[in-house]
Amino acid sequence: AKVARELAEDALEAAPSEDVTGVSLGLVPTMGALHDGHRRLAEAAVAGNDVVVASIFVNPLQFGDPVDLERYPRTLEADTALLESVGVDIAFAPELEEMYPGGEPLVRVTAGPLASKWEGASRPGHFDGVCTVVAKLLHLAQPGPGGAPTAFRAYFGQKDAQQVAIVRRMVKDLNFPVEIVPVPIVRAEDGLALSSRNQFLSATERDAALVLSRALRLIEERASAHEPLMPDDAVALIESQPGVALDYFDVVDTDTLEPLAFNCRETPFTGEALAIVAATVGPVRLIDNMPLRAR
Ligand code: PAJ
Repeated sequence: AKVARELAEDALEAAPSEDVTGVSLGLVPTMGALHDGHRRLAEAAVAGNDVVVASIFVNPLQFGDPVDLERYPRTLEADTALLESVGVDIAFAPELEEMYPGGEPLVRVTAGPLASKWEGASRPGHFDGVCTVVAKLLHLAQPGPGGAPTAFRAYFGQKDAQQVAIVRRMVKDLNFPVEIVPVPIVRAEDGLALSSRNQFLSATERDAALVLSRALRLIEERASAHEPLMPDDAVALIESQPGVALDYFDVVDTDTLEPLAFNCRETPFTGEALAIVAATVGPVRLIDNMPLRAR
């Protein structure tokens, strides 16, 4: 919270009024340990809005495993420096007690059936926790009485495709006055999708993890070339990689996350879809995905 105030004062110097009447407002929700993926979100928000708030809060409600929560990297100083360097006006880094005074909230947002599969299947309650904290953050980022922004946008990475689909649905179903802006996945040069958890991979594990983006690319190339996708090949590729335990690989509708209803083995791919994958590599569960589009 101290950091939030400090940066807010800087922001107020730059923009002489807290009043966001007549300006657009962007929100970038994060859990910190910021990397170039988060940076891209912040840059998109800064490019598209007059005033940008980034939040840093490791939300216990969305962690099933206390060990995972405990070891989640916390690098507040570096994070606020990164946010400031890309032009974010306000870093909002509340303490646990400020977000959840008196303990966890009694009333929560339920993500519903979109949360029952893929990531939700192995992380029960995760997306309820995400929706609850995102609902709070969307409210907290809005100005107090007396001023409304001309536009309010919140930025989410396509890296967490299911999170984007669920948050979009929450905003639609519950009439949040905000536009959800998805930002494409940022990858390392070798193809690994950037994640705060990548730092827990050894060099060997990291090498092994590259099979995920390779498998996605294989399917993406077939989609582009209007060929049958044959996702079994991607599954075989991943399963042949020592050190990688595949959880799921599938081709789904981007909004509903339902598996595509067509014969992936024989029918040439048309239209658009999303290839999604999750696997455990060493101590880390990794997720990745790639949009498919027939050219
Ligand atoms: P966190 O994992 O910190 O991610 C914050 C945002 O950065 C998310 O929207 C995520 O999709 C995006 N992001 C992470 N890695 C990315 C990459 N390689 N390329 C593009 N975007 C990337 O997601 C959360 O936090 C939390 O669930 C949160 C929404 C903050 C709610 O607590």
